[in-house]
Amino acid sequence: MTEVTLTVNGKAVKRDVPDTMLLVEFLREELRLTGTHVGCDTSQCGACVVHLDGKAVKSCTTLAAQASGGTVITIEGLANGALHPMQKAFNDNHGLQCGFCTPGMIMSGVDMVARYKAAGKELTEHAIREELEGNICRCTGYHNIVKSIQQAAGEM
Ligand code: FES
Ligand code: FES
Repeated sequence: MTEVTLTVNGKAVKRDVPDTMLLVEFLREELRLTGTHVGCDTSQCGACVVHLDGKAVKSCTTLAAQASGGTVITIEGLANGALHPMQKAFNDNHGLQCGFCTPGMIMSGVDMVARYKAAGKELTEHAIREELEGNICRCTGYHNIVKSIQQAAGEM
């Protein structure tokens, strides 16, 4: 067992968990934050993306113990009173169908907009499509997902 200490969505949490527990299991099973999804067992789909210390990570390939001491933001922590501009953009552009991939798409979208802004680079439609290579939408709703991220990039 390992003691894992994290700040998750602004709250300090501490749990003793098996050494092999994944961060996504920690979030879903220990904290009941079930907005972070598991859509594959091959680290391909991106449904599990959260932010760890300000960077998008796949929580299905990160051990809870590896993340210990860090700060995690999940989809549940993104809205701050009102919807985050990325959430609003997905709503405005119908950027979801079944919604299974949506938490990961939104967390990846926020991360990519922040990275491009920090680098002073334009987040073009082509760049968004390339950046989304680690996120799969099995409903194939990519067109509206890209439109959503483009809208949010102008508002964030
Ligand atoms: S569940 Fe993490 S990439 Fe699919
Ligand atoms: S909206 Fe269904 S998987 Fe993307």
